[in-house]
Amino acid sequence: MFDRSIKIAPSILSADFANFGQEIRAVEAQGADWIHVDVMDGHFVPNLTLGPPLCAAIRPHISTVMDVHLMISPVDAYIDAFAEAGSDIITAHLEAGPHTHRTLQAIRGAGCKAGLALNPGTGIEDIAYMLDMIDLICVMSVNPGFGGQKFIHSQVEKVRNLRAMIGDRPIHIEIDGGMTPETAPLMAAAGADVLVAGSAVFRGGSVSDPAPYGENIRAIRAAAEAARSGS
Ligand code: DX5
Ligand code: ZN
Repeated sequence: MFDRSIKIAPSILSADFANFGQEIRAVEAQGADWIHVDVMDGHFVPNLTLGPPLCAAIRPHISTVMDVHLMISPVDAYIDAFAEAGSDIITAHLEAGPHTHRTLQAIRGAGCKAGLALNPGTGIEDIAYMLDMIDLICVMSVNPGFGGQKFIHSQVEKVRNLRAMIGDRPIHIEIDGGMTPETAPLMAAAGADVLVAGSAVFRGGSVSDPAPYGENIRAIRAAAEAARSGS
């Protein structure tokens, strides 16, 4: 069921890599709505993370939504593997290749929801003829590749324009990068509904002391919801 309520999606990029299963169960118990999985190839972005086998391994620990963000190029050859690993949403980058339309077809064809991510320097014009094929647009508010970077403010206006372009279509607007209780309200007011947060969720906590995860999630959600009701 589609809705525009605020959803917090912790990025496991900031979790303990030796403990993904426990970390995921901990953030879900503490209020996470989705689990965001960052896949990097050392080519499209200057960092390497994980692939389909790890997604398959963590899938049984996720009871919400497995939101897989592919920062890889090329993409198409790997879509079936990420779908078979249990992804609910697969997001590819507009900048990852010349055939985004085909990539979105392949993601839905593999039985997943199709996401499209835009780097901070990319405009929204090029997606106009693909809106009926997209379930989620991910606006990168940092340059992809690393957690813990500074929020890029110019992306607020992009989200506002994107929200107007989407109209009544059932497309989520997800923000990825630099989300904190200070920046999340700007994006929520501009029209975002899914807020990815890595460092701002995992800071201060651990699997043996997960309460800070809950405090961090509640702080981001409260700030975002307050900005919504004020807009
Ligand atoms: C960046 C990743 C993000 C990142 C967010 O390339 O796509 O999901 O982990 O981390 P924070 O919330 O720390 O900016
Ligand atoms: Zn991401």
